[in-house]
Amino acid sequence: MNNSALGIFDSGVGGLTVVRAVQELLPGEDIVYLGDTARVPYGSKSPETIRRFSDEDVRYLLQQEVKAIVVACNTATAHALPMLQERYQVPIVGVIEAGVEAVLADPRAQRVGIIATRGTIASHAYQQALSLRRPDMVIIEQATPLLVPLIEENWIDHPATRQVLETYLQPLLDQRIDTLMLACTHYPLLVPVLQEMIGDRVRIVDSATTCALHLQQELRQRDMLAEPTRQGNLSIALTDLSEQFENLAKRFLHKCPPNISRVEL
Ligand code: DGL
Repeated sequence: MNNSALGIFDSGVGGLTVVRAVQELLPGEDIVYLGDTARVPYGSKSPETIRRFSDEDVRYLLQQEVKAIVVACNTATAHALPMLQERYQVPIVGVIEAGVEAVLADPRAQRVGIIATRGTIASHAYQQALSLRRPDMVIIEQATPLLVPLIEENWIDHPATRQVLETYLQPLLDQRIDTLMLACTHYPLLVPVLQEMIGDRVRIVDSATTCALHLQQELRQRDMLAEPTRQGNLSIALTDLSEQFENLAKRFLHKCPPNISRVEL
């Protein structure tokens, strides 16, 4: 047993979708969440910059004496996870392996569409991880950079967002995908609209829930789970504070966030 906090970081507040999944599965865990809101988005930055920012995020969390770290950001996982795992002793879990497992959980998955930020798509991290396990799988990648700003604007069920989604999804639907991987922290908020647009012909997968399961396995194997009778505490640290981020945090977390503090990295 280990009651030290878990560290979870993201480029901004989108990673709170992962926090929500972790809290549901592991309610006894304390969580220190770091959102690098001063430098968001990571999705359009170069791999070198994403690695540098991610390294600083991890260093901050290690100063908080966390027992393990979750890289909730897909872009950071795609470009920085191997480097971070090599560099630091604490267990560090990303979201891509979890997403890949969620796709493979249905053996009927044959034609998989992946939507993500430009950075995640450019890394081909999902495609490589899927092809390694299932070389026969047809994988179609599509960068969808307009979605994060639309979601942050709360234009979820909005004609402009539907039109953008239609344009992005058409090439994938033309390729008759049977699975759509939502490879970005923000996209779970689009699930109801997506479901309505593509119907139940296409299975929609996101990595937040599977990531929480992964983390649970990892902590259990190392005998690092918190005592289950505890009530875990969440603290949120952001590198830039604004009313907009607080409102966004509420939408991603599905409840009022606890006190948010501003930190320097
Ligand atoms: N958190 C990022 C991701 O999951 C999306 C936002 C950004 O571009 O920083 O890829």
